[in-house]
Amino acid sequence: MCIRGESRMENRLYEMTARRCSVRRYTDEHIEDAVIEEIMKAALTAPASFGHHPIEFVVLKDKQTIKAMASCKRLGGSQIIGADAVIVTMGKPDRGEFWIEDSAIASSYILLAAEQYNFGACWVQIRNRIGKRKSSDEEIRELLGVPDAYAV
Ligand SMILES: Cc1cc2nc3c(=O)[nH]c(=O)nc-3n(C[C@H](O)[C@H](O)[C@H](O)COP(=O)(O)O)c2cc1C
Repeated sequence: MCIRGESRMENRLYEMTARRCSVRRYTDEHIEDAVIEEIMKAALTAPASFGHHPIEFVVLKDKQTIKAMASCKRLGGSQIIGADAVIVTMGKPDRGEFWIEDSAIASSYILLAAEQYNFGACWVQIRNRIGKRKSSDEEIRELLGVPDAYAV
């Protein structure tokens, strides 16, 4: 089968998407800041509704903060404790009606960009999830000092 003249086997994007899978156990390999920057550049190319770009990111590398972050979600997020980096995706609802869609697309770009650099990654859902005492969203905003206008 041909996609715009290129055979599937030669299509690097197809190969990358076919290879990508969620990875929840990590080695102690360090991700260079320059690679994180390239991954974030890819995230910033994601389409955004009306071109409003209501999405902001926080990159966490500090082990203690990552551990504290893991406890902001009761179930299904503890794998981040072993990660070298965590990228928190946030939207500003008053800047874009479709901030959830925009965040999801940017997050998908991040997963693909990580794959391109051969780093395992996994989406951890925060919206509509609960932490120790409050919503995951509130606990993360408290932990990271994120302004109220943003949703995680
Ligand atoms: C919206 C969304 C939320 C997800 N939430 C979590 C999560 O909280 N924890 C987790 O370990 N994986 C989560 N995942 C990863 C999915 O479980 C995973 O993509 C799915 O099982 C398919 O596996 P694959 O990514 O290896 O193809 C989420 C994926 C998406 C798209």
